[in-house]
Amino acid sequence: MSVTAESIRDQQRIIWDEFAAGWKKWDAELLGWHRPFGDAMIQDARLLPGSSVLDVAAGSGEPGLTVAELVPEGDVVLSDISAGMLHVAREKAAARSLPNVSFSVCPASELPFDDATFDAVLCRFGFNFFPEMRLALREMVRTAKPGARISAAVWGKAAANPWASLVLGTLAQHTELRQPPAGTPGLFRCSAPGFMARMFRDAGLVDVAERTVSTDLVHESPEDYWEFMEDIATTVAMGLATADKEARSLIRSDVFQLLGRYEHEGALRLRSTATLVAGTRA
Ligand SMILES: C[S@@+](CC[C@H](N)C(=O)[O-])C[C@H]1O[C@@H](n2cnc3c(N)ncnc32)[C@H](O)[C@@H]1O
Repeated sequence: MSVTAESIRDQQRIIWDEFAAGWKKWDAELLGWHRPFGDAMIQDARLLPGSSVLDVAAGSGEPGLTVAELVPEGDVVLSDISAGMLHVAREKAAARSLPNVSFSVCPASELPFDDATFDAVLCRFGFNFFPEMRLALREMVRTAKPGARISAAVWGKAAANPWASLVLGTLAQHTELRQPPAGTPGLFRCSAPGFMARMFRDAGLVDVAERTVSTDLVHESPEDYWEFMEDIATTVAMGLATADKEARSLIRSDVFQLLGRYEHEGALRLRSTATLVAGTRA
């Protein structure tokens, strides 16, 4: 079967629906780990109490749900291609009694909103998975009001992200890696310095700036880390699925050995680095 944008979107929808249970299970850990990235993005979005905000690829709800608390007189729309992920977000919004949140199941490349609707558009770790990144950005720009901010986070370079590259690098040693076709989701596809800023400028955005934010993924034990990765990291899990049972077991024991390097004060601390980019709709 040839790889088309549509087939990638379908595959993403299916896999994220499947992983929604894992994101629910690990919600507290994910919230703590990703918070520094979300907080920095929110700062870049320059929100006001009455802002109308769109969160694209909001998944299980962040950073949109945090924004909803920050803009009590405003409103937030959480959108995502996966109904399963948005279902988790919906449950969380209800548990927090957030009255100003609504939900939309849609691909980033076809946002069902009028032109110039939002004061800010956020997208945390969505571009890594879009088959047509420029088309998705064009939609974000179209739905943003003149003067609105668009603020996104993508994963930085593999060397600055051992939380994922540790498993992916070990996987590469045990399996035949094929060159992925253009447009294929990837954790490090947006990591070249200036890549995101150039795309933002090409989309007509002004006042564009890129910066790096880092934090640690912390786990108590290798078993805990492995279970977390299998439950939440779709790219890693899809890679592991290409290995046979024997190779998987070798990958696991190699990773456990390598994890020793990341032990500090009784816990595993794996560096996680994102590129943040923001710009203003002219
Ligand atoms: C890593 S999760 C990020 C979730 C959330 N923004 C966060 O930071 O916690 C990536 C999300 O992108 C969504 N996604 C993947 N492809 C998409 C597409 N083409 N359009 C919209 N959402 C998509 C997935 O369903 C998933 O919820």
